[in-house]
Amino acid sequence: MKTLKVALLGCGNVGSQVARILLEDAEDLAARVGARLKLAGIAVRNPDAPREADLPRELFTTDAEALIASADIVIELMGGLEPAGTLVRSAIAHGAAVVTGNKALLAAQGHDLSALAEEAGVQLSYEAAVAGAIPILRPIAESLAGDHITKVMGIVNGTTNFILDAMDTTGAAFGDVLAEAQRLGYAEADPTADVGGHDAAAKAAILAALSFHTTVDAADVHCEGITSITADDVAAAQEAGYVIKLLAIAERLPAADGSDGISVRVHPTLIPRLHPLASVHGAFNAVFVEAENAGQLMFYGQGAGGRPTASAVLGDTVALARRLVIGGRGRTRSHDVTIPALPIAQT
Ligand code: HSE
Repeated sequence: MKTLKVALLGCGNVGSQVARILLEDAEDLAARVGARLKLAGIAVRNPDAPREADLPRELFTTDAEALIASADIVIELMGGLEPAGTLVRSAIAHGAAVVTGNKALLAAQGHDLSALAEEAGVQLSYEAAVAGAIPILRPIAESLAGDHITKVMGIVNGTTNFILDAMDTTGAAFGDVLAEAQRLGYAEADPTADVGGHDAAAKAAILAALSFHTTVDAADVHCEGITSITADDVAAAQEAGYVIKLLAIAERLPAADGSDGISVRVHPTLIPRLHPLASVHGAFNAVFVEAENAGQLMFYGQGAGGRPTASAVLGDTVALARRLVIGGRGRTRSHDVTIPALPIAQT
């Protein structure tokens, strides 16, 4: 059986879970892909920093470029624009397939990176960048590719939903709840990206670009966070029958001259308590999609945290590893994929 070398860049909450799953589930993953996914190394700034998962010390290196040079698949989970952007470009230049969960990078440079990858004939996947474990980007980019999406609206930041939900249900103060969201591993390294709405704005830009087949720069997304929401605001909303949620909204909206246009925005919104989005609790995310032919669709699940987000990263990794194994021959399974016969329980 063939072996594909996987280089992991970054080992925070998500990266350490991805590494753990690659090591623990190696046999199952090999059976599904038709090739072994060998974790060749993990590039980090400090190999001795404490990690979420117990990982072999010899996997760690500070030399990301050397790791990339010998990899078939590069998984970038460092976050931020640099050095992540340079390393993703380097992976593409080396002909490695790339999986990234880096929404800030994709929102700022996704179009360029996709073009580079296409030019180089390599795959670039980023399902984990929006809404954690929820499969949302592939449904929009592939399943709905023959439809016309008119609106995407959702809760795409787990940290702020966790905070607003706790303020709503327990009357807690904003600052106390943020610390808990950080402890649970939902918040970004710099949580101002969450509470300021910028993380949701980056995700809104990615959703809008894929939904409307265009390019959207995160800097053009109207962005209001939740830092000014007080316990009094939450109580007043409650009294009037509403709940406050931070929503990302992308919709087709004709421009002033009547030509095609879109609106992409993130802001706290009053939601009637009976609306399905009002019952999205904790760090869960939910995304509504409206399309001309499909009608309304709703996607719901864990939008933040190491294990849920690692699930999306592994999904992308398996999908593109399969394509590396089968080459361009249009088949969906490698000859090396084993399909076990499982006994069917009698109920
Ligand atoms: N900080 C992000 C959130 C992580 O809270 O949703 C997932 O992108």
